[in-house]
Amino acid sequence: MLSELETPSDGVDESEKKSYRGPEWENHAKKMDLSELLKEGTKESHDRAENTQFVKDFLKGHIKKDLFKLATTALYFTYSALEEEMDRNKDHPAFTPLYFPTELHRKEALTKDMEYFFGEEWREKVKCSEATQYYVDRIHYVGQHEPELLVAHAYTRYMGDLSGGQVLKKVAQRVLKLPTTGEGTQFYVFENVDNAQQFKQFYRARMNALELDLKTKEKIVEEANRAFEYNMQIFNELDKAGSLLATEPQDGELLVHDGKGDVRKCPYYAGQQGKGAHEGSACPFKNITALLRQPNLQLVLAAVVALASGLMAWYFM
Ligand code: HEM
Repeated sequence: MLSELETPSDGVDESEKKSYRGPEWENHAKKMDLSELLKEGTKESHDRAENTQFVKDFLKGHIKKDLFKLATTALYFTYSALEEEMDRNKDHPAFTPLYFPTELHRKEALTKDMEYFFGEEWREKVKCSEATQYYVDRIHYVGQHEPELLVAHAYTRYMGDLSGGQVLKKVAQRVLKLPTTGEGTQFYVFENVDNAQQFKQFYRARMNALELDLKTKEKIVEEANRAFEYNMQIFNELDKAGSLLATEPQDGELLVHDGKGDVRKCPYYAGQQGKGAHEGSACPFKNITALLRQPNLQLVLAAVVALASGLMAWYFM
């Protein structure tokens, strides 16, 4: 194979020279379908996306409800942009064969999830995050100036949602105790796709039938890698947001703070909200739990309980 330095220079401009990977690659790529080029060409990105902290934590069930709400918000803005651009390009020959609003579009499902999590007035309560905005801007740019690359964005999201997305739904429902009837996880349900595996095959065939030259195919793979990158930026942003969120109580955990944790979980604090009384004031819950932790007091309490049950047993004999 020719090295980059040996690349022939006649009639080839600088940018072409840079991406020129030799005749062997060209023959190989020419024979390959777009779906194969995409799968092969984004493998590394996929591995990296799967290994981001946010995704790893999510898969382990380490996801807080507030963070899941932020993730849903990011998806809402992303899919609003994506589907707006797909609607705009539904008659463009480079996209028409991939236009499946009934089967794939997620904006309506995400609107329901947003309503469920934030209430009817959700639009006033949420905003697009910085990392999501970059992704949204790129999608709009592609939709309006390079529509032949839109397939890369559709591929990265919908094929992913029809694959690993299904695992995430189960984790979210179990860990966040979301209803199994689907409220809050509508995004993950493709009501009009009976068999995800078969649909993916059909979608791949449609991608392969697009009339594209090799250069455009390569640009699509590059754009798909860029789409993965935008997704990873959002995951990193969510990971940071997650570490700032208050830890949620696990099952059976007493909603009382020990003076060190998140003060907002204290019922006394909740009762005093708006009165400005909690700062510096003695919290009765905090004091009671501190007392209950004293071993001597625990012994006295145990003796009192034993004595009381003895007395009751004697009384009812
Ligand atoms: C939660 C972590 C993830 C898991 C467990 C996962 C799992 C999978 C699996 C098993 C497949 C193969 C499906 C098949 O061949 O039919 C797949 C494909 C895919 N995933 Fe993921 N994935 C994850 C994260 C992501 C992310 C974050 C993205 C992009 C944002 C993504 C995008 C894709 C794409 C585009 C495909 C299609 C590959 C192809 O066949 O060309 N995945 N995923």
